[in-house]
Amino acid sequence: MTVLTPVLSAHWDDPDSWTRRGYERHGGYGALRKALDTEPDALIQLVKDSGLRGRGGAGFPTGMKWGFIPQPAPGDSDAKPHYLVVNADESEPGTCKDVPLMLASPHTLVEGVIISAYAIRATHAVIYVRGEVLQIIRRLHHAVREAYEAGYLGADILGSGYDLELIVHAGAGAYICGEETALLDSLEGRRGQPRLRPPFPAVAGLYASPTVINNVETIASVPAIVEHGADWFRSMGTEKSPGFTLYSLSGHVTRPGQYEAPLGVTLRQLLDLAGGVRQGHQLKFWTPGGSSTPLLTADHLDVPLDYEAVAGAGSMLGTKALQIFDETTCVVRAVLRWTEFYAHESCGKCTPCREGTYWLVQVLRRLEDGEGDDADLDTLLDLCDNILGRSFCALGDGATSPITSSIEFFRDEYLEHRRRGGCPFDPAAATLFAGIPAGVSA
Ligand SMILES: Cc1cc2nc3c(=O)[nH]c(=O)nc-3n(C[C@H](O)[C@H](O)[C@H](O)COP(=O)(O)O)c2cc1C
Ligand code: SF4
Repeated sequence: MTVLTPVLSAHWDDPDSWTRRGYERHGGYGALRKALDTEPDALIQLVKDSGLRGRGGAGFPTGMKWGFIPQPAPGDSDAKPHYLVVNADESEPGTCKDVPLMLASPHTLVEGVIISAYAIRATHAVIYVRGEVLQIIRRLHHAVREAYEAGYLGADILGSGYDLELIVHAGAGAYICGEETALLDSLEGRRGQPRLRPPFPAVAGLYASPTVINNVETIASVPAIVEHGADWFRSMGTEKSPGFTLYSLSGHVTRPGQYEAPLGVTLRQLLDLAGGVRQGHQLKFWTPGGSSTPLLTADHLDVPLDYEAVAGAGSMLGTKALQIFDETTCVVRAVLRWTEFYAHESCGKCTPCREGTYWLVQVLRRLEDGEGDDADLDTLLDLCDNILGRSFCALGDGATSPITSSIEFFRDEYLEHRRRGGCPFDPAAATLFAGIPAGVSA
């Protein structure tokens, strides 16, 4: 297997990679011309054939999602408009792929939006981006403006008769607004809280109209598929998880950054490319896809990083945010920090998550301070049991993942806090990112 397959990240090192000129120099917007000469249904079929799966975490097949959008019968004047919404809220701890993609190559996303909106017959599209990332918002506005100037957006795109308006909408920095239905409520001007399903967004999404919601990386992958075809995409990755993707390595790794590789690459291979765990240290635990995916350990270095194999190892591929922690890290403290995040970001709509995450933090703090007792571990597991599968959305489920998995692999470390009457780790030695050179690798 070729380890690196730079497609999305191929030209990120160009100084003008974020401009239309820089993008077009490498064939940018060629896929759009091709797409506009193709029937929308044929584009949906192409994406189905490619096997592209959503990169926002769940890995749902993208072409199938697009196919759920009801198509109006000929002459049906009451048909509702269709919307395409790009989820650029990226807030999961450790997840850091969409922001660099939009920073380095916003036109890849804009071209993907136009092709995808055309395929689902939408005339309005929205990029919902988290409000704190000002530099990304500026880059997106700039790219959208350039696309309008070039006739790639607006009325009668490239003389095709197809019209599309693209809006960049800044959220207010709530993790829950990345959950697709909370995002829609936020976009409509309401407090961002998840909606009851059904109806699903494909039937009644934005303004109760058929809506496709896809992650930034998903949509940005579409132009390359249109350009090179489904077989080319399938020539990478595995049968059920085809294609290339961005793996984000962070934490105690020599060269953190974005590594674009075929699905099914292993952490061992990626660590080789990234210079390994920081010098003089060993891998202790890692997340395969952000903090809401169960932790894995050094025993899992050879697990293929695709949806099926990571699930087989007891975790989830999620957003492919590989956070690396070496032996200086206190797992109890790391899990406590994540849990504080989930408690803070819980939207409060359902009791198991609202109350449960609060109590998880109380028990974890006691344990980290060395004041807990053995029964606290059972309390934690009991709390998790009452949250997992009983919460209204996946935020609650995700909050339990680092806790249950860390107790499975590091039970003794929890108990050691009690024996010592405090954290056995030296906080000075555990400083993340110390001495790591800056830079993005691709
Ligand atoms: C709490 C929570 C936060 C989420 N945040 C994001 C996010 O920031 N970006 C994203 O694409 N998906 C996020 N998701 C997943 C979305 O709900 C949805 O599945 C995804 O946008 C679908 O796109 P895809 O099919 O292209 O993966 C989140 C889900 C939950 C439960
Ligand atoms: S699980 Fe948490 S974030 Fe999701 S609806 Fe319930 S309270 Fe809100």
